[in-house]
Amino acid sequence: MSEKILVCVAWPYANGPLHLGQIAGAYLPADIFARYQRLIGNEVLMVSGSDQHGTPITVRAEQEGRKPQDVVDQFHNNFLESWPQIGISFDIFTNTGTENHTRTAHEIFLKLLQEDSIYKGSMTLLYCPTDRRFLPDRYVEGKCPYCGFDGARGDQCDNCGRPLNAIELLEPRCRIDGTTPELRESEHYFLRLSALNDRLRDWASEQEHWRKNVYNFTLGLLNEGLHDRAITRDIDWGVSVPVSGFEDKRIYVWFEAVIGYLSATKEWGQRNGKPKLWREFWEKPDAKSYYFIGKDNIAFHTVIWPAMLMAYGGLDLPTDVPANQYLTMSGAKASTSRNWAVWLNDYLSRYDPDPLRYYLSANMPETSDADFTWAEFVRRNNDELLATWGNLLHRVLTFTNRHFDGRVPAPTKPMPADDQILAQAEETLQVVGEHIALCHFRAGIDAAMALAREANRYLEENAPWRSINEDKERTGTVLHTALSVINVLKVAFYPYLPFTSQQAHAYLGYGVPLQESGWSAVKPESGQSLREPQPLFKKLEAEVVEEEERRLGV
Ligand code: MF3
Ligand code: ZN
Repeated sequence: MSEKILVCVAWPYANGPLHLGQIAGAYLPADIFARYQRLIGNEVLMVSGSDQHGTPITVRAEQEGRKPQDVVDQFHNNFLESWPQIGISFDIFTNTGTENHTRTAHEIFLKLLQEDSIYKGSMTLLYCPTDRRFLPDRYVEGKCPYCGFDGARGDQCDNCGRPLNAIELLEPRCRIDGTTPELRESEHYFLRLSALNDRLRDWASEQEHWRKNVYNFTLGLLNEGLHDRAITRDIDWGVSVPVSGFEDKRIYVWFEAVIGYLSATKEWGQRNGKPKLWREFWEKPDAKSYYFIGKDNIAFHTVIWPAMLMAYGGLDLPTDVPANQYLTMSGAKASTSRNWAVWLNDYLSRYDPDPLRYYLSANMPETSDADFTWAEFVRRNNDELLATWGNLLHRVLTFTNRHFDGRVPAPTKPMPADDQILAQAEETLQVVGEHIALCHFRAGIDAAMALAREANRYLEENAPWRSINEDKERTGTVLHTALSVINVLKVAFYPYLPFTSQQAHAYLGYGVPLQESGWSAVKPESGQSLREPQPLFKKLEAEVVEEEERRLGV
């Protein structure tokens, strides 16, 4: 039976262009998962949007003397252009500036207020006497009281991942001018996390299918015990607080951004004339939801968002939160401010999408950080993608075209070796599917590539170029077998390499798009017309490494 699967992907701050770390961290794994689920016939809704509020946006706008809306529009449009180019197949990519989002956020805020899961209180905040303003979130830095990291921010420590309250910071300083802030009282609303701690812990401890680091980190927070957290800010950029007297304050960006998953689902339904469809994804106990995020977002998705959902009631909690670790660049953590990153737009201006998708999948930071180097990118492209998969397809198709009149030969002289590789292909397809369903993306692509290597070995051993003159029937059988395995490989690779898999599909003579053909090991029909293939991948010269390292500044 077809399942409803909501694929939720972290909402990128619209304060800068996308870099490869974000692609490897969240967007690519989500896309592989979504494409696979669609192919096996599940009903998938893949949602996200630009996170356009919060201090990451205002800090950049202030630095550049621009309006926050101006910054947000620029990068939101940039994201919208990028997704189809790199093949990230969102069903909807909206933003947190919509009326629908504000309405949904207000509704949740008010219900939680009514249920007493949100309450008003006074709190001591950091205030910069030089700038004469409060210093929320990224406007203040200091030492993390838990791990001692010196670049912790007012709402979170990026080193240990713990959510913080700004006054907990040791040696705080104003990010704008370095001033040591003063303490001032201000009225805010708080989320009563302390009261939800036990329910959250009961729920989280049952999620043994989560990745170990996600599970342990989450239970660690819940065992330490949650503190209530302010969910409004003294700032003028963001979603308004739907209570009178709070006209000068805004809802905390994280509180409303996570609501985006719900509001985007609603918007998708509205856009498609099915305004009630969101309920199918959020209110049915058998609907599933997967949240693809980077490790710095774990607490918000395994604790704070589930707490909000529990307090609200009637909505499904996350099924899985397969958070990735970081992708480092030539050994160092990517950083926008130090310009140490490979920008997606830059990459796409020079190279094709699938080689990047391949390298990032095969080297995905699933269980530990992974390093991106241009040398490895070039090696993986040339030695694996091109030499093993691209050449296999090209050799078999051109040879069949030449000797069998461009048609799939009939298998008239089968031998055990043929059955063996065909059985291996079928098994591989199953294995790849299982890996993807469990969010083991590296293992999935490794298994697919291993089959491509086996197919090459089969071809060497059964050498159609040698048998063609003495035994055309046997040659035809070998080619039919090889084409059948290639037909499986194109499916197994499709979630990872959608562009070139579709090309391979067309070369094999199919007219309907690959995404409509299902996750199955179908043998091409004897007599089916093949197309003249173009190489799927381009060889990259060694100079690429030097040139790109120079650009990066290695
Ligand atoms: N904007 C956040 C970041 O880039 C992620 C927000 S995910 C959401 O780290 F769910 F809150 F939207
Ligand atoms: Zn810390």
